[in-house]
Amino acid sequence: MDKIIINGGKKLSGIVRISGSKNSALPILFASLLTDEPVIIKNVPSLADINTTIAFLNFIGKPAVKIGNTVKIDKSEKYKHIAPYDLVRKMRASVLIMGPLLARLRKVSVSLPGGCAIGARPIDIHLDAFKKLGADIEVKKGFVHTSSKGLIGNTIKFRFPSVGATENILLASVLAKGKTKILNAAKEPEIEDLTNFLNAMGAKVNGAGTSIIVIDGVEKLHGAAYEVISDRIEAATYLIAAAITKGEIVLENANPTHIKAVIDKLKKSGMMIETSSAAIKAKWTKPLKPQNISTAVYPGYPTDVQAQWMALMALTKGKSEIKETVFENRFMHAAELLRLGANLKIEGQSVFATGVESLSGAPVMASDLRAGAALVLACLAAKGKSVISRVYHLDRGYEFLEKKFKKLGADIKRQR
Ligand code: EPZ
Repeated sequence: MDKIIINGGKKLSGIVRISGSKNSALPILFASLLTDEPVIIKNVPSLADINTTIAFLNFIGKPAVKIGNTVKIDKSEKYKHIAPYDLVRKMRASVLIMGPLLARLRKVSVSLPGGCAIGARPIDIHLDAFKKLGADIEVKKGFVHTSSKGLIGNTIKFRFPSVGATENILLASVLAKGKTKILNAAKEPEIEDLTNFLNAMGAKVNGAGTSIIVIDGVEKLHGAAYEVISDRIEAATYLIAAAITKGEIVLENANPTHIKAVIDKLKKSGMMIETSSAAIKAKWTKPLKPQNISTAVYPGYPTDVQAQWMALMALTKGKSEIKETVFENRFMHAAELLRLGANLKIEGQSVFATGVESLSGAPVMASDLRAGAALVLACLAAKGKSVISRVYHLDRGYEFLEKKFKKLGADIKRQR
């Protein structure tokens, strides 16, 4: 298994181009199942999860191929309606196959995704919503079997603004009979991106980005060409890299409005941040002040940037609280940061950090995608050599990670 070797302590500086959004590209690729016509998706990042999704689409019967950062999806006729465990367990977002296949084939059987490192991550909100659209649900031997005589639009109120459930219901209801209203919908930018793609295919969706989304079902969707938004979580990670290494980084192809909560916290802590419509400059000019965060659904502070903030607070003089309200077990990176010399105390859903003068390099292990990102940041700032194992977690969500950091002046390499 690959490892990443870092000799830390170098200030990062220079320009980094932010890749297309993983969490936007995934639902958009699944949405291609809603039409039999050709589809072209641009600005798709080269990531393990994208490769998994493309393999999945081909398995289901959708001829998809990725050339550079463009995915070409050809005409297709018929689809399998089974999503096997070995595909779904590799990537939980595979549950997004349910919406489109329920809409098109009126039946789909998906292996239950099972939990992952950051929590049990059930799909009850998805399933309750499918029932409201007229689907029958049966859970048997680790599979969810769903079928319907044709989905009928309805009003659905989410108990929690789940991103995946909002996406799955969008994918199911665009071809349902009549109107669907999602109340307490997720407002993340990825929901708006998926909606823009669906509407480009002829769907009628309004209100994406707000908590009330209204979908008027249509008979059929046609093919489309679409460009995915940039990855706001990758962008936030590089901004924090500038802060933790006391450097100066310019992000190209980044949308500051998508990470306002993170930018506000960095400014409050003392980072100099300048933004334009498609670029963000972050410059360390003085010792930072600790800032508490409490993760929340969009537009609050993103849970996917909680680990990275903890790494920064571990090296910021003073005390801070990092509270996780979205997932029940998203502090695995704390134990690894302690190995680097951080002073952290886990108390329930919060970690209390007391900044230390410096961290020292050590062998550490990534437990999930964003925990891995936090370890990269901490090792870039730590004195001496670090070896990060299980980097396959990082390959799921960060395109050309070591190449980008090397270009910014980091002493980083991958050991195969
Ligand atoms: C998406 O996951 C993202 N993944 C996650 O990013 C992100 O952390 C999360 O949204 C929150 O922003 C993708 O977009 C592929 P949720 P998702 O449904 O859709 C609970 C990354 O690092 N819940 O909003 O699974 C759930 O357990 C990944 O890129 C239910 O209880 O997130 C969690 O505690 C990690 N029942 C909370 O809601 C349900 O039916 C948020 O989940 C669904 C969710």
